[in-house]
Amino acid sequence: MAKTTNVGIVGTQFMGRAHSNAYLDVPFYYNLPAPPVMRAACDVNKADLDAFCKRFGWQTQEADWKKLVERDDIDLIDIVTPNFLHKPVAVAAAKNGKHIICEKPIAMDAGEAREMLDAARENNVRHMTAFNYRRVPAVALAKKLIDEGKIGKVYHFNAVYYQDWLIDPNFPYVWRHDKTKGGSGAHGDMNAHIVDLARFLVGEFEAVCCAQEVFIKERKKPDGTMGKVTADDAAYIMAKFRDGALGAFLVSRLANGRKNFLRFELFGSKGAVSFNLERLNELEYYSLDDPGPEQGFRTIVVTESSHPYIKMWWPPGHIIGWEHTFIHEIGDLLLAIDKGENVQADFYDGMRCQQVIDAAVKSADERKWIQIPKE
Ligand SMILES: NC(=O)c1ccc[n+]([C@@H]2O[C@H](COP(=O)([O-])OP(=O)(O)OC[C@H]3O[C@@H](n4cnc5c(N)ncnc54)[C@H](O)[C@@H]3O)[C@@H](O)[C@H]2O)c1
Repeated sequence: MAKTTNVGIVGTQFMGRAHSNAYLDVPFYYNLPAPPVMRAACDVNKADLDAFCKRFGWQTQEADWKKLVERDDIDLIDIVTPNFLHKPVAVAAAKNGKHIICEKPIAMDAGEAREMLDAARENNVRHMTAFNYRRVPAVALAKKLIDEGKIGKVYHFNAVYYQDWLIDPNFPYVWRHDKTKGGSGAHGDMNAHIVDLARFLVGEFEAVCCAQEVFIKERKKPDGTMGKVTADDAAYIMAKFRDGALGAFLVSRLANGRKNFLRFELFGSKGAVSFNLERLNELEYYSLDDPGPEQGFRTIVVTESSHPYIKMWWPPGHIIGWEHTFIHEIGDLLLAIDKGENVQADFYDGMRCQQVIDAAVKSADERKWIQIPKE
C-alpha cells in the first residue's frame, strides 16, 4: 500500500483553515513519499466541526482531543487551538508517539514549552513550531545573503508588527484578551513572529527591556457582561543580541489603518536587507560592494527559480501569497517526517522564542532589563 501521513487536527477556525488549505495543496507542489491524508478533525463546537469537515474534506470527527491523540490511524497531530491547549495536546500526542506541528506561540510560558520539547524528544517524534514567516521566499533569501556573509556583521534588527483589529472598543471579548487563555496578548500573537525572525536571521538574544500596555481595559462578553482585558494590546521591546547587535520590536493591535503590517530592517557592516509582508514577493537589498555611483537599495523580486521555494511554483514574476508559507511549512514537515529528520523551526525554537517573550513581560512588570537564559 502507498505510504501516507495521516493527520489529526485540533481546532477549526482561522489557522484550521490555513493549515487545511496547505494539506490539500501540498501534494501538487512537493514530491512527497508519504502525502497527507486528512483523517480526523477535532473541535468542541459541533456545528463548526461539521461545516469544517465538509468544506475541507476531513474524513472523521472527534469531539475530544484526548481521543484524537490516542487513535491508531493518526501519525501527525496539528494543534491550531488557543494557546492554553498547546501543551496538554502536544505532550499527550508525543506520549502516544505522534509527530506534532503546533501553532505559535508554542505555549503559555517557557516552562510549558520545555515540557513539550522534552516530551517530543523522549518519544522521538518530529516536532515543529509553526513560524510560517521563515518560509516566505524573500525571508529565506535574506537568510541566505546573511549566511553567505553579504551583509557582514549585523548591527541592527528593527521590526514592527502592526494590526488594528482591536481599535474598536466594541470589538467583543475573546480568548486573546485573557492571559489565562493566551499567556500574553500582542506578545504571543505578533512579537512571537518577529522575535523568531530575529533568532532566525541574527541569533540568540542576550537581554530585553520592555514596555507594554492594555489601552482598552474592558470589553463586552457574549453574555453581555464586561470582561477585564488582561493580555497586552501593545508592547515595545528593546533587545541586545549575544553577538552584540541591537534590536527593536514594536507590536500593536491598535495601530489604526494597519491590518497585518510586518516589516523588518536589518543593517550590517557590508549591507542591509529590508522586508515588508505587504510586499512579500520582494526583498530590498543594499550592498557596499556595488560601485559608488550605483549604490542604493535595490528591490529583488523573489520569484526566480533560483530563489528559495520558488522552483515548485510559477515562472518568474508570477507572484505567490501568504497561504504559500503554510504549504512550505507543511511540505517541509512531511519530508522531515518521512526521512526521520528534525525540521526547523522546532519546539526548541518555540521555547527559545517564548523565553524572550516571558523575559519581556517580566521586564515590563519590573521595569528593568532582563537576561535571557543561556539554554
Ligand atoms: N502563524 C500565524 O500566522 C498565526 C495566525 C493566527 C493565529 N495563530 C495561532 O494559531 C492558534 C489558533 O489561532 P486561531 O486564530 O486559529 O484561533 P481561533 O480562535 O480562530 O480558533 C481556535 C479553534 O480552537 C477550537 N478549540 C477551542 N477549545 C478547544 C478544545 N478544547 N478542543 C478542540 N478545539 C478547541 C475553537 O473552537 C476554534 O475552532 C493560536 O495559537 C494562534 O496564536 C497563528
